Amino acid sequence: MSTQTSLIKDILELKKSRKAEILAHFYEDGDIQDIADHVGDSLYLAQQGQKSSADVILLAGVVFMAESVKILSPNKTVLVPDLNAGCSLVSGSPYKEYLRWRLAHANHIAVTYVNSSAELKAISDVICTSSNAEKIINAIPKDRGILFGPDKNLGRYLARKSGRDMLFWEGSCEVHVLFNAQHLHNMKLEHPDAVVIAHPECEDGVLAQCDVIGSTSRLLAEVQKNPAKKFIVATEDGIFHQMRKSRPDAVLLQAPIDEACSCNQCPYMKLNTLEKIRNALRDLKPQVNVPPPLAKLAQVSLNQMMDVTQGKSVTWSSRFFEPKF
Ligand code: 13P
Ligand code: SF4
Repeated sequence: MSTQTSLIKDILELKKSRKAEILAHFYEDGDIQDIADHVGDSLYLAQQGQKSSADVILLAGVVFMAESVKILSPNKTVLVPDLNAGCSLVSGSPYKEYLRWRLAHANHIAVTYVNSSAELKAISDVICTSSNAEKIINAIPKDRGILFGPDKNLGRYLARKSGRDMLFWEGSCEVHVLFNAQHLHNMKLEHPDAVVIAHPECEDGVLAQCDVIGSTSRLLAEVQKNPAKKFIVATEDGIFHQMRKSRPDAVLLQAPIDEACSCNQCPYMKLNTLEKIRNALRDLKPQVNVPPPLAKLAQVSLNQMMDVTQGKSVTWSSRFFEPKF
């Protein structure tokens, strides 16, 4: 039996004995996506974690995704394969500085991208992901200013779409900012028949040239339903696994980056391996825990996101005060 086959066998046995479920993001390697119970974008994974009746959730993605699951389901054991699976948006938005910014705009509604720490979620009014962000922005009363962070590219894209008055935190995704607008222009001239699709974490010059902008699940859906035979894709390369499975007939081209390197891979997502997943299920560690007082506050903004996403009517806070946790 090959090492890979024996690892998969171990994982499937451990999943049963631990009453565990594996949730994997689209940016994971194909072998990880293939053993997962659910594969999806950030919103879908958070929803599946909340719905799940499993005792243990192993989140094959990055740590902020696992934190969201833990915050929404505090009684579950939440595992990650590698605690170093961070995100440049999280490391680029330190709590104290973000709090200062938040306090300086206490009357604004703080909309925070899910790619953020639990602390940032705790001082926000509502969370969004790339798949529900437009709906969240449109649900906010028109007379309220909006503070958006930590991804300035997603924020600017939302302001252009909605026409809303927004202030942005200067954060970005270290992977998506590498897609190059000039190279993309040249590639489009070479492939005039291609449909160009991009994640909104890309910079304005790239987004301006795209036919479709959306979350990972939106981009996958476009490839699945659009009869075109060629696509230029500006997002992390893990998404190609599902795209190739559903459209083996289509030519799928990676949008160009600055240099000849694997920069279109998220170094944090790619820390996860089958071996680390097997070990985590076997040893029940590393676990992701969020201190309860912090989790309680972060849950408020995550629940607000879930309610708006489901079309429920919600109220918006009037002024922000520094919380204690
Ligand atoms: P999605 O929510 O679209 O899956 O995006 C997550 C992410 O980290 C993009 O870089
Ligand atoms: Fe964070 Fe970018 Fe990786 Fe997504 S692709 S997890 S935004 S670093």
